[in-house]
Amino acid sequence: FADNTISKPQGATGSGMAKDGAIRNNQFWWPNQLDLSPLRDHDTRSNPYGANFSYADAFSKLNLAKVKQDIDTLLTASQDWWPADFGNYGPFFIRMTWHSAGTYRTLDGRGGAGGGQQRFDPLNSWPDNASLDKARRLLWPVKQKYGEALSWSDLIVLAGNVALENMGFQTYGFAGGRADDWEPDLVYWGPEIEMLASDRENVDGELQRPLGATHMGLIYVNPEGPRGVPDPVGSAKNIRVAFERMAMNDEETVALIAGGHTFGKMHGAHKPADCLGAEPGAAGIEEQGFGWQNRCGKGHSEDTITSGLEGAWTQAPTRWTTLYLSNLLNFEWQQTRSPAGAIQWVPTDESLHSSVPDAHIKGKFNPPVMTTADLALKFDPEYRKIAERFLANPEEYRLAFAKAWYKLTHRDMGPPRNFLGKEVPKEVLLWQDPIDAKTQSTINTNDVKSLKASILKSGLTVPELVRVAWGSAASYRNADMRGGADGARIALAPQKDWPVNNPAETAKVLQALTTIQSDFNKGRRMVSLADLIVLGGAAAIEKAAKDAGYNITVPFKPGRGDATQQQTDISSFNQLELTADGFRNYFDQAASYKSPTEMLVDKADQLDLSVPEMTVLIGGLRALDANYQGAKHGVFTDKPGTLNNDYFVNLLDMSTVWRKSTTDGLYDGFDRKTGTKKWTATSVDLIFGSNSELRAVAEVYAFDTSKQKFVDDFVKAWTKVMNLDR
Ligand code: HEM
Repeated sequence: FADNTISKPQGATGSGMAKDGAIRNNQFWWPNQLDLSPLRDHDTRSNPYGANFSYADAFSKLNLAKVKQDIDTLLTASQDWWPADFGNYGPFFIRMTWHSAGTYRTLDGRGGAGGGQQRFDPLNSWPDNASLDKARRLLWPVKQKYGEALSWSDLIVLAGNVALENMGFQTYGFAGGRADDWEPDLVYWGPEIEMLASDRENVDGELQRPLGATHMGLIYVNPEGPRGVPDPVGSAKNIRVAFERMAMNDEETVALIAGGHTFGKMHGAHKPADCLGAEPGAAGIEEQGFGWQNRCGKGHSEDTITSGLEGAWTQAPTRWTTLYLSNLLNFEWQQTRSPAGAIQWVPTDESLHSSVPDAHIKGKFNPPVMTTADLALKFDPEYRKIAERFLANPEEYRLAFAKAWYKLTHRDMGPPRNFLGKEVPKEVLLWQDPIDAKTQSTINTNDVKSLKASILKSGLTVPELVRVAWGSAASYRNADMRGGADGARIALAPQKDWPVNNPAETAKVLQALTTIQSDFNKGRRMVSLADLIVLGGAAAIEKAAKDAGYNITVPFKPGRGDATQQQTDISSFNQLELTADGFRNYFDQAASYKSPTEMLVDKADQLDLSVPEMTVLIGGLRALDANYQGAKHGVFTDKPGTLNNDYFVNLLDMSTVWRKSTTDGLYDGFDRKTGTKKWTATSVDLIFGSNSELRAVAEVYAFDTSKQKFVDDFVKAWTKVMNLDR
């Protein structure tokens, strides 16, 4: 599976090379230039349904039971062009589902089943996704039948569930609601320029953040062992890191691997280099989206080559059993090689070598097999304890796999209200970041007015209110729809203690807001702290605009609720911590994995902002004096705390000349004539004058004619951020 087993066919690309005539973007010529493309992807013009299409509405009309029946029928309707192993596509579909969800990584919330990204390169052509082009094509008749009411992303997950149920497993539930993407996500999948290479560990062996997999082009780890070395204990270490990055603990990890490998088989009938054509991304047009064309033997069935490993784990690969665990724990295993040359393991007891029926040839029997990664569950002491407990308690094992599978396949769907359909479990799980509906505000328009007045009378300043409202909402990340202002989790651990939120200031502001809340809630209606925090931001911005001569109302929609500490998984929420927030000019060098300006674009992407929205927010927040700890960097105005476009006017003013400061990461602005120091700034401030595309937008907000536009656009973008999670 490492370079030695899946070798690249001649002529295949996928190697980070540009060809003649290809457009070379500015990052090709100037690799350090800030890349704004993440703020321009998934344009609605790519979506054939158009901007007004609601997938949730379309899905609500779907007869889910009927769809499931159709998938179930398809599982055992073997097609000549890709015959089913053991007469059942179930295991194949489970692998497809697992690979679609398994790209999810907690550190930035990217990857996951949402969007149906497996349809697009690079994932479509990843070596680990070999043959899954066929799995999705087998599902096309179902997709064609239900059209826009069933997204590919939902169908891919549902197919895995139906497969499990078909083979005797009781699943925990299914939720629809994943809308499809129409282009590949711009995700950093690793530093390597070759598939299956691995160059992502630092000197201490730590996997580069925010990656989840150990190799380019693999979902998780190398099945043959770390860098192809058959070392089960070393493999366990890799698995633990990789599965933790997917939000899975040891118990969930054992349940998933054991449960998954209860079904199906591996495919390595011949040496890939002798038989396989290019992956879909590099294959000829006549292959119509397929890849890995196999010219050996039949090219499928008993001649199939996928991973290069060969064989089934159990004696009954299309039934839910505990055979995987009993085989793993009760047999002794010895190293061998698959016909393709990959390292794998078979029982030392040769009498077991004809206990597994062949997937295609009647009357033929094979040995059960294990990968080095499977043996990790036996040789790592912690995994082993869990595996033994599961084997002794089959119902506990079943439930653990059912729940871990449900979490795996639904982890990137955001809050419970996004979970649609009749098969959504009643229980809301902790990883869904629950908020009690009972705590939702019931305030009306008059209450909004009077509450805003009380907030402004409380003595809290504009910057304090703006920073806390921003901190509350900016924890949101679009990639997995977690975080945001709803729930007021900025008042709870761990968010209240994140350095970026300036814990002392946040505590002070929240105390004042809580007093207003308890006074108000003595009356007939109720306001949540989450709503008050957002309302505080709105009141502050209205005041700041008024002080600058603009009479505006910041739109506000009540209805947020408050979460409790018990409803908040601290370690899971810690994954949302902002190690950089250019909007508050905050940067923690040690914890950030990119430069301040790259982290700004990354955060803007997670807040679903466009380039103009990011730009106007930076200018507005600087004018509002909303920097972390009140730092003056980028506050290019003599009226801080008022909402004006001075930031842009002064940034582009030729009377200032900028030089690097003696403090790393800072810049000083001097009067060009007198040499007096006027301003200080960070790279996040100066990038809006230096990057040509950002400067073009900054100019618009510096026009004499766009003062009102600046205020209006700022309020619009601010309101969008406050409501991202709703
Ligand atoms: C198949 C590796 C985790 C479900 C395979 C294959 C490999 C592999 C090498 C053979 C592919 C082929 O040649 O067709 C791994 C590794 C894992 C892992 C290294 C993690 C350490 C999982 C998980 C699940 C799963 C978590 C599901 C919960 C399956 C299934 C198949 C399979 C059902 C059989 C597919 C078929 O019959 O066509 N896995 N796997 N695997 N895997 Fe995994």
